[in-house]
Amino acid sequence: MSLPEHGLSAVEILDELDALKANDADWGSGRCFSYVYSAGDEVREIARAASSLYLSENALNTHAFPSLGRLQSDVVRMVADLVHGDEAAAGFMTSGGTESILCVVKAARERAKRERGITEPEMVLPESAHAAFHKGAHYFGVKTVTVPVRDDYAADVDAMAAAVTDHTALVVGSAPQYPQGVLDPITELAALAADTGASFHADACMGGMVLPFLERLGRALPPWDFRVDGVTSISVDLHKLGYTPKGASVVLYRSKELRRDQTFTFDGWLGGMYASSGLAGTKPGAPIAAAWAVLHYLGEDGYLRLTREAVDAARKLIDGVRSVDGLRVLGKPVAHVAAIAADGDAIDVFALGDALQGRGWFLDRQRPPDSLHATVSAGNAPMIDAFLTDLAACAGIARATRAADRGTEYATLE
Ligand SMILES: Cc1ncc(COP(=O)(O)O)c(C=O)c1O
Repeated sequence: MSLPEHGLSAVEILDELDALKANDADWGSGRCFSYVYSAGDEVREIARAASSLYLSENALNTHAFPSLGRLQSDVVRMVADLVHGDEAAAGFMTSGGTESILCVVKAARERAKRERGITEPEMVLPESAHAAFHKGAHYFGVKTVTVPVRDDYAADVDAMAAAVTDHTALVVGSAPQYPQGVLDPITELAALAADTGASFHADACMGGMVLPFLERLGRALPPWDFRVDGVTSISVDLHKLGYTPKGASVVLYRSKELRRDQTFTFDGWLGGMYASSGLAGTKPGAPIAAAWAVLHYLGEDGYLRLTREAVDAARKLIDGVRSVDGLRVLGKPVAHVAAIAADGDAIDVFALGDALQGRGWFLDRQRPPDSLHATVSAGNAPMIDAFLTDLAACAGIARATRAADRGTEYATLE
């Protein structure tokens, strides 16, 4: 492939893009249980309009583009308010959950060095914590101490306590974790970090735009946000259940002083003073403007409605899975994320995933243990009944296939 000698027409280009998308997951139909989270066409339209106003602007320099400084700080304040950050809380927008987490790992390393003189920092995390923490450890030279979870997939406080040492710079918990949607015991984990002077990160990339609204809808939840002493930072992804376009997450610190450990400034090259908040240099304005627009468009009542739809749909999905012979849901999902696994060995869940895919459903495969991942957002809600009908049918096929495979095996052995 090389650059076309002459530019193509807009029609040709858009037709080609449309054609290229033909085999992509069909999220618009509500049949995709991860990656894209839809609050409907109206929300997408306001996001599109706001993005197009900021297609070219660069948030690297908010002196050049003060409006982007203002939009970011509005978004950060709105999210800080949701997670009970007080006046002192401070944060930044980043490109996504991974960048927020990378920034936190770097900030925890700096803090451990600054306050406790730690030069060989360690991070204690449950094996359910997102892979981005391992990426951060790899990038920033932090040793990971990964601790097995309990049988119910929640972080094991005693085992984590045993892993904390004088070198611990960061302890991690999730609200909820991605693989099984389980809420970790944040109060107890944060206390472990506080006792040793380490940072504690509550990873609410998945739940940060759900759990606050779930609580407002009357669900009693164990505290997991800045109300918990010892929580020093929180990540909240807007491009997941905040229903904003991709490229939008918020990383928050309990204080400006803690946030300072994230930033990078440099005055030793020929380009003058350089300062950046996160990993990127040039920072696109479009996701920031779109996030600001969607938060304002939906407002609290919009998010309460979407949370109710997503969580009711997840409940229905979970109950439906439990009623299918040979399937179970792992752990106790707190809200909108669940993992579907085999109960016994009558079904190969990955074969089940293939059969569902054949009928137009997309669920990521994950292990260990073998399971299908479902993040349920409002966009999936109208499709749950249809999904459960196909799930029951495909589970029947998967059971029959396995039984037949066994028959063949025995026949061969004899
Ligand atoms: C709990 C949690 N943390 C972090 C991430 C990483 O987010 P991103 O894919 O936006 O980088 C995810 C993504 O699903 C997640 O569920």
